[in-house]
Amino acid sequence: MARRGNSIIKGIEINEIIAVLNKAYADEWLAYYQYFVQAKVVKGIMKDAAVTELTEHAADELRHANMVADRILQLGGTPLLNPQEWFTHTNCGYEEPKELDVVSLLQDSIKGEQCAISVYSQLADMTREKDIVTYDIVSQILADEVEHEEDLQSLHDDITEFIEDIKKNIN
Ligand SMILES: [Fe+2]
Ligand SMILES: [Fe+2]
Repeated sequence: MARRGNSIIKGIEINEIIAVLNKAYADEWLAYYQYFVQAKVVKGIMKDAAVTELTEHAADELRHANMVADRILQLGGTPLLNPQEWFTHTNCGYEEPKELDVVSLLQDSIKGEQCAISVYSQLADMTREKDIVTYDIVSQILADEVEHEEDLQSLHDDITEFIEDIKKNIN
């Protein structure tokens, strides 16, 4: 635990920060797995573009889980030790892929990113001017989640437009 490092935290309980970071940690692992498995099972038109995007996102979510775990440890906490706890602590849950076509999976993922943006935006509000180090970490992650939403939405829009064009040409 970083003693001097933690002494600069003002106006917020360290245990409270550890608790909310562990919830975010659960989200990151579930998001990682969601992207990992989506990239494996996705089907349909422009599938390769989706696989590339989903695989990149999986790597980013795992990197986020690392960043959050390291901060929990610095604060003197312990990252969740049992994957079963991911489901009891998660903010955003886990969207089990039901329809495996590209468009449905992208829609599921966009929902997940929107939830992540809300969570990290709340964490940024909570830590701003109180815990600068956590604030910096959650701000970096927030910027990534905003980029993720945009990447998925533009891919989703390209694919749906392409499908519409094909339909028009057939008719
Ligand atoms: Fe993330
Ligand atoms: Fe993300």
